[in-house]
This record gives sequence, structure tokens and C-alpha cells, in this order.
Amino acid sequence: MFGIRQFVLSLTSFLLLWHGDSSAPRQQVAHGNKSVAIVGAGSAGLAVLRALIDLQIELHDDLDIVLYEQRRDVGGIWLPDPELVHPPVLPETPLYPLLHTNTPMPTMTYPGFPFPPGTPMFSSHEYVLKYHRDYALHYNLLPYILFNHTVLSASWVGTSEEGRWDIVVEEGNGRKTRRSFDHLVVASGHNHYPHILTFPGQDAWLRHRNGAHGRRREILHSIFYRDPERYANQTVVVVGAGASGRDAASQVALYARKVYHSVRTVDDPASGPVEVKPEIARFSPEAIVFADGSHALDVDVVILGTGYDLRVPFLETTGEIAVKPQSHRRDHGLTTNLRYLFPLHQHIFSLSASYPTNALAFIGLPILISNCPSDVAQSVYAARVIANASLLGPREQLLTALDAREDELRSRGYDPYYIGHRMVLHGSSFDYQDELIENLKAQGAIPDDGTKYVESWRREARDYQYVKRGWKRVEELGQEREWLRGVETEAEWADLMKRLDEWEKEWEMRQGLVFPKETTVF
Ligand SMILES: Cc1cc2nc3c(=O)[nH]c(=O)nc-3n(C[C@H](O)[C@H](O)[C@H](O)COP(=O)(O)OP(=O)(O)OC[C@H]3O[C@@H](n4cnc5c(N)ncnc54)[C@H](O)[C@@H]3O)c2cc1C
Ligand SMILES: *[C@@H]1O[C@H](CO)[C@@H](O)[C@H](O)[C@H]1NC(C)=O
Ligand SMILES: *[C@@H]1O[C@H](CO)[C@@H](O)[C@H](O)[C@H]1NC(C)=O
Ligand SMILES: *[C@@H]1O[C@H](CO)[C@@H](O)[C@H](O)[C@H]1NC(C)=O
Ligand SMILES: *[C@@H]1O[C@H](CO)[C@@H](O)[C@H](O)[C@H]1NC(C)=O
Repeated sequence: MFGIRQFVLSLTSFLLLWHGDSSAPRQQVAHGNKSVAIVGAGSAGLAVLRALIDLQIELHDDLDIVLYEQRRDVGGIWLPDPELVHPPVLPETPLYPLLHTNTPMPTMTYPGFPFPPGTPMFSSHEYVLKYHRDYALHYNLLPYILFNHTVLSASWVGTSEEGRWDIVVEEGNGRKTRRSFDHLVVASGHNHYPHILTFPGQDAWLRHRNGAHGRRREILHSIFYRDPERYANQTVVVVGAGASGRDAASQVALYARKVYHSVRTVDDPASGPVEVKPEIARFSPEAIVFADGSHALDVDVVILGTGYDLRVPFLETTGEIAVKPQSHRRDHGLTTNLRYLFPLHQHIFSLSASYPTNALAFIGLPILISNCPSDVAQSVYAARVIANASLLGPREQLLTALDAREDELRSRGYDPYYIGHRMVLHGSSFDYQDELIENLKAQGAIPDDGTKYVESWRREARDYQYVKRGWKRVEELGQEREWLRGVETEAEWADLMKRLDEWEKEWEMRQGLVFPKETTVF
């Protein structure tokens, strides 16, 4: 099978080792006309690997593809840490033991690859990891993946017209190798570098110990949050009403003496015995003072559910990406302001003038979108553009289109440099995916069968308001089996969500229950 052959070829091209001195000979790729390096084997990396393999089959082995993954397996954030680490060492994933998906499983799938029968509608993280492993096995992706391989740096050697990516990789045994590629696809995730807020007075607060029990005080980012039992009998302040903050607050509340949940807007607090507070204004040596002047005494731990910075270290060290935290304006080259990476064509291709427009792609940047379907749409688009750069217009034209997109957001009251890759406009997460695929169809790059990329059931599911509470009630009634019986195909999963939504809606109406509208992440 060519998959195995590809693997052997990749290995042989690794025989020339790099010993860390820059005078070492640069390795050449002796086969294939185009080579592509992918970084990361999470949802996004697997999607783009599959799309490139499909293309390779179509182009009759015209691509040489290698995926570097620094960890031991596929799955990205869904693969648990091998061991507990403490700051300043960062965990490999923010995953915590009690994590359940916050979106219905059928909406999280790669198109055409449903979860196995019997999967709970909102399941624990193990199901999602297994799903990614199943996907990698089903599409024979593993032969292309080099595990325990960390990409340390990538730099472009060439001009805006031609050149190659010079990539240095560290293997598990510490050995460094160097290889060059025509194209680089970055799928390294955006939940890895904590966004840390600092408050006036926090250092003095940290130096004090809590009188009664002499316990050391701590400020931790939610990336370090694992077991709620650890907070038994402690007083905890959780900052942030995102998924991580809400989960940490409601889980810790079951064990803690007291939990304060500090949120910007009060309509989305955690469930359970927590006291909702506004934003933290400052710390005094004894207390945490909130914006309304109230304060919390005897606090042991502050958990910052304050999100993540958008960083790509292996492109920053080589200057390919500039880090400018406050930047709201386009400059030369590719820049991250920690929320937005720009300028990118369709959140995918770098429009830096240093290299061709299809030389550097990012998969998985969009937020507030169902990742797997979006990853696939992006990947099909990226693979076709990698094969044929002419599918993109000239760089200037792409930059003008980006200006128009950013202006459109501004006209609706959003700062594009603040919302970054968040798909904030209603329905835009689906329109975005359709737009990518329709563009390819319009240019004849893929066949047009007359259907839209985003299935109508996914658009419908976005408006279901009762599925989550409905499933909770199913679990309380112990009726999971009955509901999941016979549910196998995508259509059957879609129908299950619809039935669940209607069943719960009807019940809540009869009970006269009214809940605030849920914010969905897709
Ligand atoms: C706590 C949490 C809960 C979430 N829950 C949901 C949910 O319920 N529903 C939902 O739809 N989404 C959820 N998400 C969003 C989730 O992040 C995405 O759905 C998706 O899994 C992200 O996949 P990814 O491939 O883009 O990134 P990741 O999963 O982060 O994968 C990136 C991979 O790249 C590798 N990598 C990075 N740098 C290098 C390097 N230099 N060299 C080699 N390899 C490298 C990493 O090891 C990792 O394996 C959640 C996110 C978090 C953080
Ligand atoms: C790939 O390389 C081979 C050998 O150099 C050449 O014959 C072939 O035409 C090339 N294919 C493309 C698409 O450039
Ligand atoms: C990767 O490293 C882990 C931990 O060191 C090891 O158990 C595993 O066998 C390695 N995998 C590969 C493919 O080398
Ligand atoms: C918590 O406090 C209770 C009552 O003071 C005590 O019985 C229990 O052992 C404490 N638990 C831990 C983990 O410290
Ligand atoms: C590449 O795309 C351009 C623009 O759509 C098209 O005209 C051309 O035929 C394509 N080339 C190949 C080899 O498919």
C-alpha cells in the first residue's frame, strides 16, 4: 500500500541527522514533487492529513506528506496528560477528569463519520479521544504521523515567489533533525498558552498566608485545573464565565468551603452553590476586592479561567510571526496580537509577502464553530490550494478582500482585531464553511453535486435550546438506552437531537419552566 511506502520514504529521508551546528548540510527531499509538513495530530491536523492523502491519491502520489506530533498519540487536547505538572511547566492539555462535551456529540463530528452507536449525547472526554483514534485508523492516517516529534522552528528560505520551509524537529530521544518542505500546515491548536491576567496588589496578597490554617495562597490558570477534590475545604475564586471557568466553579463548589465566581456579565454564571461576583478590581493583603466594592476574605486559591493566547512558538523564534499584544493594525508580515493572527486569507493562508500565498496554512483557528466540520472544510480548501496556487487570486486582491471582511465586522460593531477568529455573526460559522467549498466548486476544482457542504441538520441543531437539559433529564430517568437504541447513521443522530429537543421543550412548557437562552459554541 502506498501509505506504508510513504512511511518508509519518510524514514529514509530522516537518515541524515542534524547535530545542531548551522554548517550541517541541509537535507534534500529526493522524491515527490511537492512536500508538505503538518504540525499537530488533533482534530485539525487529522482533517488536513486526510484531505492531503485524498489529493495525493487523485494526483497519483504527487505529494510527500509528514505530520509531526510532539505527543504520544492523536487527539490533541482530548489526550490526557501523562503526569501532573506544576507552573511554570505547562501541561500538554487543559483536559480535566470531569470534562464532558458542552456541545451535542452529533454536532461535533467529521462529516460522514458519526460517533459509534450508544455514545451519550454529551459524553465524557474519553469518547472524543476514541473517536479521533477511530478516525485515524479508519482513514489509515497513522503511517504518515511521526509521534514524539516536536517542531522546534520553521523558517522560510527563499523569496515571495519560491523557496522552502526549513524545519528543525526534536525527537523523543532529544535528537534533532532538519528537513525542508515546500508547504507548511500548522494545526497546533489554540488552547495551550494561558492568557494570564494580573491584578493590582496580587503579589502582596500571595505573600500572606491564611491565618487559621497557614495555607499558602495560589493563583492558577485553568489549564492547571484537574481534580476538584484538591480544593476541599478551601475558599476559591474562579475568574471567567467561559466553559473552563463555569466547569471549574461548579465542580469545585461540591468540595470547597466557599466558591466565588467572578464574571463580567452575570447572566451566565456556574451552576451550584457559588456566589456570583463582578470582576476583580484589586487585591489587598487580606482580601480580593471586586468591582462593586465587595470583597472575599480567606481566599486560598484563585483559578483564572481567562482563556488562551494565540501563539505559535516555532514560527515566532524564527521571526516568521511577530508577537504584538496590543496591535490593532496590519503591518508587514504575519502578526499575532494574541487573539488574532493576521493577515490571513479566510483564516487559513498567510498573506505575508515573504513567501507564496499557499506556502503557509493554519487549520483550526476559527472559534465559536463546531471544529471537526470546519476543520474538514478548511482542509479540503487548503489541500486544493496547495496543489494549485492559482485557485487563489493575487496577494493584493486577497488583502483587499480581507479589508472588506474586517470592515464588515466593524460596521456591525465588532473590532476584528479583538474578536479575532471568533465567528460572532449569527450563522457565519456555517456560511464560512459553505463559502470555502463553493469557491472550489465555482472554479471546477471539485465536483458540484448541487448540495451545500454544511448539512441542513447541522444548521437546524444550532437553534435547539433544549437538548442539553433534555439529555440531563434522560440521564436522571435512566433512559439513555431507550433513546440511543437504533441510532447509527448521521440522519438518525440528527433525528435523535430533534426528538430530544421537542420532548424537553414540551415538558418544560407543561411545567411552566423558563430558562435563559443558552450560548452555543458552534
Ligand atoms: C477544556 C476544553 C474543552 C473543550 N470542549 C469542547 C467541546 O465540548 N466541544 C467542542 O466542539 N470543542 C471543545 N473544545 C475545543 C477544542 O479545542 C476543539 O474542538 C479541538 O479539539 C481543537 O483541535 P485542534 O486540532 O485545533 O488543536 P489541539 O487539540 O490543541 O491539537 C494540536 C496538536 O498539535 C500538537 N503540537 C502543538 N505544537 C506542536 C509542535 N511544535 N510540534 C509538534 N506537535 C505540536 C499538540 O501536541 C496537539 O496534539 C474544548 C477545548 C478545551 C480547551
Ligand atoms: C514530478 O516529477 C517528475 C520527475 O521529475 C516529472 O516527470 C513530473 O512531470 C512531475 N510532476 C509534476 C506535476 O510536476
Ligand atoms: C513516545 O513516547 C512515549 C513516552 O516516552 C513512549 O511510551 C512511546 O512508545 C513513544 N512512541 C513512539 C511512536 O515512539
Ligand atoms: C474538611 O473539613 C471537615 C470539617 O472541618 C473535616 O472533617 C474534613 O476532614 C476536611 N477535609 C479535608 C480534605 O481537609
Ligand atoms: C488551477 O486553478 C486555475 C484557477 O481556477 C485553473 O484555471 C487551472 O486550470 C487549475 N490548474 C490545474 C492544473 O488544475
